[in-house]
Amino acid sequence: MIMTKQIACSASLFLLAFLPGVRGVSTPSDDTPAYSSDGNLLAPSHYREWIYLTSGIDMSYTASNAMPDHSMFDNVFVNPTSYRSFITTGTWPDKTTLVLEVRGAENPVSINKHGHTQSTELMGIEIHAKDHGSWSFYDLSDGGPVAKRIPRPASCYTCHEAHAAVDTTFVQFYPTLLPLATQKKTLSAGYLKDIHEVTSVPQPSAQ
Ligand code: HEC
Repeated sequence: MIMTKQIACSASLFLLAFLPGVRGVSTPSDDTPAYSSDGNLLAPSHYREWIYLTSGIDMSYTASNAMPDHSMFDNVFVNPTSYRSFITTGTWPDKTTLVLEVRGAENPVSINKHGHTQSTELMGIEIHAKDHGSWSFYDLSDGGPVAKRIPRPASCYTCHEAHAAVDTTFVQFYPTLLPLATQKKTLSAGYLKDIHEVTSVPQPSAQ
């Protein structure tokens, strides 16, 4: 009897491992980017089960510039297969997808009197995906099943390529990844130049 149970259990584990997306579980085979026939990205539906990298609040490059009265959080997630690869290499493999989710920052709510909490309202989703060695940005602000490809030239590409710490992604703001990239020496020339400029500002001499 015990034997039979063990066999049944192993059989279902085997099935779970090979059926993509069973009950929303992210398996290595279901976290790669997929596309519509016109080259847009199919929205990764369970990115909320991916690896959490950071939250930024009121970062000035976001739409919060245009709406100074509104405070916003952004949350960044990456597909688990690529995260595991980053841990060993310090950079992103092909088929990496990063999702930036924007939510309103609220105050006061419930018992909270100070600081901000995140709203249930989703204000936008932007996606950065690497395929065949090159990165593309996609916009999912309409909340539909397909994220629209943002063509070059666009400020997204310019800023990320000039200032992002690893392979056009802003690893300098992803606290669990920055030490790994530093250790593996995968930091970009643009990022190293930026921090050099900040740290080499002449200091007033002590009298
Ligand atoms: C002026 C610089 C700048 C511009 C322009 C910019 N970004 Fe970003 N982007 C950032 C920073 C900084 C972060 C890190 C966010 C954080 O730490 O929460 C980021 C993070 C992201 C991420 C998370 C993954 C990653 O690559 O690190 C996505 C997706 C993203 N941006 C999409 C876009 C899109 C789409 C556009 C254009 C519509 C855009 N960005 C324009 C600076 C920029």
